[in-house]
This record gives sequence, C-alpha cells and structure tokens, in this order.
Amino acid sequence: MSKIVILTGAGISAESGLGTFRDEDGLWAQHRIEDVATPEGFVRNPALVQAFYNARRSQAADARPNPAHQALARLEAEHDGDVLVITQNVDGLHEAAGSRNVLHMHGQLDRALCHVCDHRWPAPDEMRVEDACPACGACQTRPDVVWFGEIPYGMDQIDPALAEADIFAAIGTSGNVYPAAAYGQHARRMGAHTVELNLEVSTASRDFEEHRRGPASEVVPLWVEEVLKG
Ligand code: OAD
Repeated sequence: MSKIVILTGAGISAESGLGTFRDEDGLWAQHRIEDVATPEGFVRNPALVQAFYNARRSQAADARPNPAHQALARLEAEHDGDVLVITQNVDGLHEAAGSRNVLHMHGQLDRALCHVCDHRWPAPDEMRVEDACPACGACQTRPDVVWFGEIPYGMDQIDPALAEADIFAAIGTSGNVYPAAAYGQHARRMGAHTVELNLEVSTASRDFEEHRRGPASEVVPLWVEEVLKG
C-alpha cells in the first residue's frame, strides 16, 4: 500500500478567491511581514495584527473549496493506502472539501492561542486585543498561526511521513519558506517519487522529478485521476 504525502500552499486556494503571498498583488505586497507575521510585530501593535487576521478569517469564511481541494479529498477516500495533506495554509478548505488527514503546519485562522499560557480554543469571527484567555485570563490572545521565527506545528509527524512517502507532491507553493521548501528534496532523497504541481516554476522546482504546470483546479484533478488508476 503506497503512502502519498502532499504539501499545499497558497496557490491551491487562489481559485477559491484567497490571495497568495508572493504573487504580484499578493498579501506581502500589501503588508509588511515584520508588522503582521512576527511575534515582535504582535508585541508592537497587537491591534494591527488582529485586524489583518480578522480580515483574512472573514475572507476564508466566505471561500469555498475548488476542484483541487476536492480532488485531494477524493484521493484520500479512494487511494488504497495513506494520504497525508501537509498544508501551509491557514484556511479550512481542505477540511471543507472532505479531507480528514490534514496537518496545518502554519496553524489555523479559526483557532485562538494565548500568548501567555499556550491554551488554544476556537477563534471568534472577530478577535480583539482585549479578549481574555478562557484558561488563564491573560489579555494577550493571538491567532493560532505560526509566524516567522516560530517553529511550525507537526514537525514530529512530518519528518517520518516524508521518510516513508512513496509519492511526494507539492501543490501551489513558491518554495520560499523553510522548512516546507526543503520537503521535496528531503522526500526525494528518502526515495519518494516527487512531483510539483504549480502555475509556474518555483524556487524549489529543481528538487522535483516531475512537473505539472497550470492552475491547481485543472492539474490536480488530472493528477489524482492518474494516481488512482495506478
Ligand atoms: P506563495 O504566495 O509564496 O506562493 C504561491 C505559489 O502558488 C506561487 O508559486 C504561485 O505561482 C502559485 N500559484 C498561484 N496561483 C495558482 C493556481 N491557481 N494554481 C496553482 N498554483 C498557483 O505562497 P506559499 O508558498 O504558500 O507563511 O507561502 C508559504 C508561506 O509564506 C505561507 O504559509 C506564509 C507565507 O509567508 C507564514 O505566514 C508563516
């Protein structure tokens, strides 16, 4: 029974209407990473950070899964073996499409985290600076997303999954943010067949044996069909 590990990035949700980070009109062209995606930025101006993620939570709540998310859910349901989706995305579109084995390595917009005691709970639609932690009462509530300079979630599960993977696919990610950017190289060295599905050449493209270029909503369903046919 073959094991399939899939890494997804912002590109898989682009056709659901959620902006990517590094495309010309992406989020990082409109906001400074240091201000909205670092622990230091949160300490300097928590209201700005909450407003940034409140806007993203509201957009994500309106978004619907596209055929690429749906194809990955179908793969998990129909493949005779393990399928793990490791996503860098903080939206819930994989789960909305029906995927169950999903690891959110950069956290989730719909979760809140206490900066003081690490307690986690479901985030309200609008998070506010003055929200108190339900566990310790501290008023330093933040979105449960991983910022630059923080350690991504699930590393203890990801390393063995990459080592055991027979197929590793990266979908809609630019290959600029580590450790995810090294997963293709890592999985290939450990013996996986590696395939990149992306709109264009990425920083990590050379690490992959096979490339499918095009919008995720087109290339992912075709690839899934082929994998299921064996
Ligand atoms: P990026 O914005 O860096 O890259 C998105 C990739 O998706 C690019 O290579 C695009 O060419 C591709 N793309 C765009 N539209 C697509 C489509 N319709 N179909 C297929 N591919 C498409 O996003 P990520 O690689 O996900 O982290 O960014 C990684 C991390 O950087 C994010 O998780 C976030 C960000 O800073 C943190 O905030 C910690």
